[in-house]
Amino acid sequence: MTGTRVSLTYGELRDRVARFAGALRDRGVGVGDRVLVYLPMIPEAVVAMLACARIGAIHSVVFGGFASSELAVRIADAKPKAVVTASGGLEPGRAVEYLPLLRRALDIAGAGCGVECVVVADRAAVPGSASDYADDPEIAWLDWALVESAATPAEPLAVPSDHPLYVLYTSGTTGSPKGVVRDSGGYAVALSWAMRSIYGIGPGDTMFTASDVGWVVGHSFIVYGPLLVGATTVLYEGKPVGTPDPGAFWRVASAAGAKVLFTAPTALRAIRREDPALERFAEHDPSSLRAVFLAGERLDPETQRWAGDRLGVPVIDHWWQTETGWAICANPLGIERLPVKAGSTAVPMPGYDVRILDAAGREIDEPGREGNIALRLPLPPGALLGIWGSPQRFADSYLSAFPGYYATGDAGHVDEDGYLFVMGRTDDVINVAGHRLSTGSLEEVLTLHAAVAECAVIGVHDDLKGQRAAGFVTLKHGDAVDRQALAAELVALVREHIGPVAAFRDVTIVDRLPKTRSGKILRKTMRQIVDGEPYAVPATIEDPSVVDAFAEALGATVSAPATSALTAISGR
Ligand code: COA
Ligand code: AMP
Repeated sequence: MTGTRVSLTYGELRDRVARFAGALRDRGVGVGDRVLVYLPMIPEAVVAMLACARIGAIHSVVFGGFASSELAVRIADAKPKAVVTASGGLEPGRAVEYLPLLRRALDIAGAGCGVECVVVADRAAVPGSASDYADDPEIAWLDWALVESAATPAEPLAVPSDHPLYVLYTSGTTGSPKGVVRDSGGYAVALSWAMRSIYGIGPGDTMFTASDVGWVVGHSFIVYGPLLVGATTVLYEGKPVGTPDPGAFWRVASAAGAKVLFTAPTALRAIRREDPALERFAEHDPSSLRAVFLAGERLDPETQRWAGDRLGVPVIDHWWQTETGWAICANPLGIERLPVKAGSTAVPMPGYDVRILDAAGREIDEPGREGNIALRLPLPPGALLGIWGSPQRFADSYLSAFPGYYATGDAGHVDEDGYLFVMGRTDDVINVAGHRLSTGSLEEVLTLHAAVAECAVIGVHDDLKGQRAAGFVTLKHGDAVDRQALAAELVALVREHIGPVAAFRDVTIVDRLPKTRSGKILRKTMRQIVDGEPYAVPATIEDPSVVDAFAEALGATVSAPATSALTAISGR
């Protein structure tokens, strides 16, 4: 985004980490204390995370595309002693000023959240600095450069292998995100194995993971994985398209000498839309590239074929979750390349005992029959220790549906060769551009509007982002409302409460929502209708005529216009 390039050697990174760890320690941060990291894709993000690890503090990184209230929920739950941030991040066409967002989040979280200091990295490209908040009576706002230069380096501290390294929040089915707790030792073992055996990356190699440190992919394969095996890692602040063109990934891969590119299928679809013949790839000639790995959402066979045919390197889909920390199923290229099957995430990795269960929890052995994807316990190294502050929620969310198994929340089947096909979620989690969102939390926001009586948010097919959230609302006062204006208000409300990352734009006002006699909203039927798929009206429906009325109402969906220059470029 800034047109600049900075390199750090391992020695330089170690020195910066040790000094920043010293600065945190000087502010009273010690073993087990939480530090909230709210940083864009700049080197300070890696420095802050590793500085926490060095002194046994637990980092919790929050993605920059969330609104203040989402940030506040994470602050209130993690109760960090310190927050490490920057003046802001850069999105195409706009600077995202973090400090006002953070200030508001701290106000929402309230004095009981325990934050004692905020360290601010001052980026020239974005206005705002610690001194703007010098009169805060409760929290010390500190300038990163000053605290780092004044600190004495901290020595690394040994911790037990099950000491929490980080808490990373992810969407569940309810409005409150789950703080996934990761251990230190098992995670290091799992990542070291994955780096070599899945990605084929070792000392001296370069890995370019085009994600964000705010997601698990960033934690595992921008920060910890590559550095654990002595590889070079790339932090890229930019997009696959529009910054400035669809050759961005190939330009960065070429300049860095990347052997592996890891990104989300949405990114490839965005590139395909603008450079269907992949002319930019040849232009930048990243001859170092040996493989492209994709995860975060289903890789549609069409995109996989398109990329495989043109890139001339294996295009590997692999499946995992924030909870597991590394791939459950993959094609272990570093050991041997298995045949690639379009639409499949290949085979289970060591330690993962993947089973398909029917609704009653019985194992389905028949190849090709779809069911719930579950993992027989125990889970392998690297998988979550639990949910921060809530052992019961861990048991309820993952372990109680099928005793003896971890329920992944995904559905799919295994074929006769043992290849897994992940087809979608079994719960109300949706996946927008590789970002996991809870429809429940979107619904909570829509019902905040005074005119809304009832609502349902479902994930519908989107050619670019895989899925997008579509909202359906019934009104308290019938037709007396300006529908266009209401839709715009609802879109703004989601942006304000969840953040731009929700990419929420579609609102349909309906007279009634299709429901069962017991009042359960028929989301699956709704989704099928919206996606134009064949659907059967369930026998339990309250009033079958509502389904037809619902289908007719779709013609009146109001889509808010794209707000960013990039969205406009990428066609929506
Ligand atoms: N900070 C603040 N805002 C952010 C943000 C961040 N770190 N990341 C995204 N946003 C904003 C965007 O600016 C956009 O805002 P807008 O509504 O004003 O346009 C909104 O969130 C939606 O962003 P996104 O879903 O990224 O859509 P886009 O249209 O801006 O970009 C793609 C489209 C395809 C380029 C983009 O979705 C992409 O790069 N996808 C790959 C996803 C990925 O790497 N996922 C990681 C999982 S492994
Ligand atoms: P997250 O925790 O944000 O990484 O999201 C994890 C969820 O994304 C999984 O439970 C799946 O629903 C989905 N997912 C991740 N990778 C894949 C993949 N390769 N194929 C299909 N779905 C995927």
